[in-house]
Amino acid sequence: MAVTGPLSFALEVPDLATGVKFYTDAGFEAAVEGNAARFRCPGQDRDSIVLLGGAPKKRLHHIALRVDRVDGMADNVVAAGGAVAAAPDGFSDAGLWVADMHGMLIHLAEHGGDADLDAGTPFAVNAPGSLVRKSRSAMLPRSSYAPAHPRRLGHILVFTPDVLASVAFMERGLGMGLADRAQDIVAFTCAKKNSDHHVVAFAKAPGIGFHHASFMVGDPDEVGRGGRALLAKAGFGDWGFGRHTIGSNFFHYIQDPWGSWFEYYSDMDHIEDHDLWTPTVYSMEDSLANWGPPVPDDFVHNYEVDPAGFRPQQLAAE
Ligand SMILES: [Fe+2]
Repeated sequence: MAVTGPLSFALEVPDLATGVKFYTDAGFEAAVEGNAARFRCPGQDRDSIVLLGGAPKKRLHHIALRVDRVDGMADNVVAAGGAVAAAPDGFSDAGLWVADMHGMLIHLAEHGGDADLDAGTPFAVNAPGSLVRKSRSAMLPRSSYAPAHPRRLGHILVFTPDVLASVAFMERGLGMGLADRAQDIVAFTCAKKNSDHHVVAFAKAPGIGFHHASFMVGDPDEVGRGGRALLAKAGFGDWGFGRHTIGSNFFHYIQDPWGSWFEYYSDMDHIEDHDLWTPTVYSMEDSLANWGPPVPDDFVHNYEVDPAGFRPQQLAAE
């Protein structure tokens, strides 16, 4: 009775068509039915993103997490300060719906796990004293590469008014572990076994909200190539190509139509057994990146609690 990985996230958005274009451009397969759009990674048999149109502004609707079994989790959630919730209209009541102490809605669903991913060609790096790629070029002509292919959802980062309280809830209520954190400003939680370094992460803000979701691609080149291509189509803002200290992954973030973010990632740290992992408390210097371009001014801005909201036209003109 614990979280074993991520499943999906759902956002309320003002304009469904805008969202369908953004995520289709990012490489997802879309299915639109009425005022809802569902998106899946090509090759997967389940949805990873749900958009609900017609909202006054973008807002996090819920996140969905995979659990081994829900038996007993309701008691843990309540003991940790959360509450059991009803399934929202249009969503399955299978599993367990809960809200954390800040009102963030979480769907816990039993799911056996996704099929193994195709390993593809290994990303081989010739390094001092270590020649692992000989007699072939690493790079092919640009025209050889297909558009970015998101393989699976890796993690979701959400805003919270109290990072450490949110981490405690994930630990006690959902059976997750703290991977690492930077002060009480950002924190990263993982499943206890065989987990990406982070599954749900938190950043401090005046209220709850969606910051970004991150999808695995094949290698660091696909992060950079895919990020540049999506930026050209989306046109608002980006951050990357760079590499995080916390989690070690290469990243490229593209701003979505509502001022939150979409991330391609590669080479995330893997926590095989949380009991054998020592969480580190990093300084703020390492909270965002080990290296990369300057961080956009509104990278950690929660437009969901900003009365002015995100104004993409203004940003584009500046
Ligand atoms: Fe991320």
